[in-house]
Amino acid sequence: MCGIVGYIGTNREAYPILIKGLQRLEYRGYDSAGVALLNKKGLNIYKAKGKVADLQDYCQDKDTSGTVGIAHTRWATHGEPSATNAHPHYSESKNLAIIHNGIIENFAEIKRNLEGKGIEFRSDTDTEVLVQLVEYIQERKRLDLLTAVQVALHQVIGAYAIALLDKNNPDTIIAARKQSPLVVGIGDGEFFLGSDASPIIEYTDKMVYLEDGNIAVMKLGEELKVVNILNEELSPAIHTVDLNLGQIEKGGYPHFMLKEIFEQPECLTNCMRGRINVEHNHVTLSALIDHRSKLIDAKRIIIVACGTSWHAALIGKQIIENLCRIPVNVEYASEFRYRNPVVRSCDVVIAISQSGETADTLAAVELAKEKGAFIYGICNAIGSSIPRATDTGTYIHVGPEIGVASTKAFTGQVTVLTMFALTLAEAKGTVANKDYVKIVEQLATIPDKIREVLKTNDTVRDLARTFTYAHNFIYLGRGFSYPVALEGALKLKEISYIHAEGYPAAEMKHGPIALIDSDMPVVVIATHNAMYEKVLSNMQEIKARQGRVIALVSKGDTMVSRLADAVIELPETMECLEPLVATVPLQLLAYHIAVCKGKNVDQPRNLAKSVTVE
Ligand code: AGP
Ligand code: GLU
Repeated sequence: MCGIVGYIGTNREAYPILIKGLQRLEYRGYDSAGVALLNKKGLNIYKAKGKVADLQDYCQDKDTSGTVGIAHTRWATHGEPSATNAHPHYSESKNLAIIHNGIIENFAEIKRNLEGKGIEFRSDTDTEVLVQLVEYIQERKRLDLLTAVQVALHQVIGAYAIALLDKNNPDTIIAARKQSPLVVGIGDGEFFLGSDASPIIEYTDKMVYLEDGNIAVMKLGEELKVVNILNEELSPAIHTVDLNLGQIEKGGYPHFMLKEIFEQPECLTNCMRGRINVEHNHVTLSALIDHRSKLIDAKRIIIVACGTSWHAALIGKQIIENLCRIPVNVEYASEFRYRNPVVRSCDVVIAISQSGETADTLAAVELAKEKGAFIYGICNAIGSSIPRATDTGTYIHVGPEIGVASTKAFTGQVTVLTMFALTLAEAKGTVANKDYVKIVEQLATIPDKIREVLKTNDTVRDLARTFTYAHNFIYLGRGFSYPVALEGALKLKEISYIHAEGYPAAEMKHGPIALIDSDMPVVVIATHNAMYEKVLSNMQEIKARQGRVIALVSKGDTMVSRLADAVIELPETMECLEPLVATVPLQLLAYHIAVCKGKNVDQPRNLAKSVTVE
């Protein structure tokens, strides 16, 4: 959700590293930002409401010197977005500074106790409680900083990634994690800290992904020390992270979202690389093969996910059921985790998450694990929490996704789900060889087909201009196109703030048809497939009520074109692969409408890239 960056060294100034790091994390979504710097004169905190640029403006005439610092972008959970509530927060004496991502659930109780002891609070946040508590314990019990942090964390209920600075220990940063991601970068006589690898990768590729319950002590002149709350020393694995800086920059596009839409052909090629053998028309997902018996014997598959990943799951359900003949349930992770779902040891649970950090999906994984299910992750962010919590899984390998609106991760997830279904169906013997070969052949051509779709960009942009007036949109599709309709509607809502609903086309007559009038744009996915005639009838129903139809059609279609107000042509492919091409113009449509309306495409209001709170 928010972003955390930290730096401790001797030769470099911390401030530029911290600011650049916050900028790299901007995609996560936030409402304010702040920085704490330690130098010979003391501990300084500067904070501003708004963007990192606002913080930079605010800092222009301040003393930003120092080689030790922590910085934060906040996505408010407790207390309105304001400079006062922004992090870092001082302790009462101003000797300590803290940044925090997450929620301290029992903050009210701790705050009451501390206020009872005369401690004054400056903000409305849950976070401030933690820094005040650490200082109180430190002073009251005369404990060193690490022990005071351990004692304080004992008393805290909730989720956190934190980093602390202490004026009296200027050579140390202490960081801790529970349910919120935190990565330590190990440099040469220096340490870096980040919510993920993106603010660190420029300086070092040696990283330690902290686990839940880990407390990291980054002390100058010493090796990284990782302990738990009981002060038992742990030996964390140091990973060499292969992440290219170019992958997280815009590469000439005006927005990350547009770059990521246009990257899809290359991303899907990377996603299939080493997994599809085109010469032999064969697909192998090694994770699935390694756990073959677990998956072959599965009586049921449950897919848990949120948002766009949930839409990918709906497509996965259809293709897995079709090819593997296993019942598949698709669940919103946030609902699944709080009911008492039936999960058995003969079930396989697939968790889909771009970020690998979504709190609800992670909690659903933990629940399914407790109930004995075998867990398979489909994630993008390497080394993130969900892949580490699952039994096995497949990375989608589409590179870092920075735009808040998910695009390439969606097509990557659908590609992996298709490869999953093919691999499992072959292992189970539930697919005829000629069908298998045809899908593999066609799947391998998808990157080229997306390239073709991307050529409609100008047409879609012109179309977008015509429809910026709209306050509502309806998206309709059937079968494999229904989740595409949901995804198209979500993209539009997220970045243009136009209300949009995705519906199964035939359900329209059971309610939403009442909304249709001459102002209502209706996007209909009407390609040549088994449902073509039926969708055509649904379109007639819209036209009969003066609705304005934008249709996605198969190349060369004339029937739909006669009915629709605007058409976007798609290259033909098999029905089960159509979501991979049909989603792309809908991403472009949402993008261009949002740009025409002057919205902040990459960082839409109220949204965060990685939802690490419930
Ligand atoms: C997608 O455009 C959204 N921003 C959002 O729905 C997202 O897909 C959801 O929060 C799940 O994220 P995840 O894939 O990282 O778990
Ligand atoms: N709960 C904290 C606050 O509201 C941290 C929020 C965040 O993760 O940014 O300040």
